Amino acid sequence: MGRIVGFFCRWCGYTAADLAGVARRPLPVELVVVRVPCTGRVDPELVLEALQQGAAGVLVVGCRRGDCHYVSGNLEAEKRFKLLRLLLCQLGMEGRFQLQLISPSEVERLVEAAWQMVFQLRQGMPGRG
Ligand code: FES
Repeated sequence: MGRIVGFFCRWCGYTAADLAGVARRPLPVELVVVRVPCTGRVDPELVLEALQQGAAGVLVVGCRRGDCHYVSGNLEAEKRFKLLRLLLCQLGMEGRFQLQLISPSEVERLVEAAWQMVFQLRQGMPGRG
């Protein structure tokens, strides 16, 4: 299985990944984390580019609704990724993308989401996007 590219917001996703390390809750080795300032800065074209370049999946993790440090970046991302999901669904690739909105303390949620994505991709099963 190829890599999973994780675009993690520095305030929530990246902090949760950091805390997962502190708590000794391993994230999959397939996951390569890219720290971004906000999910609002992750263009869907970037996701498509990562998949086109050989990534097995893309996991975008940002702040919960109401917690974005740039007010509405995560809401904008949700809107844009809704369209991306439709496109990936049409292409039979819906399991290869996931957006999670979490708080920095939701380490278990992040760890579970990452492992679930790995298991789904290993099995070649489409999952929730
Ligand atoms: S600052 Fe985290 S999603 Fe916007």
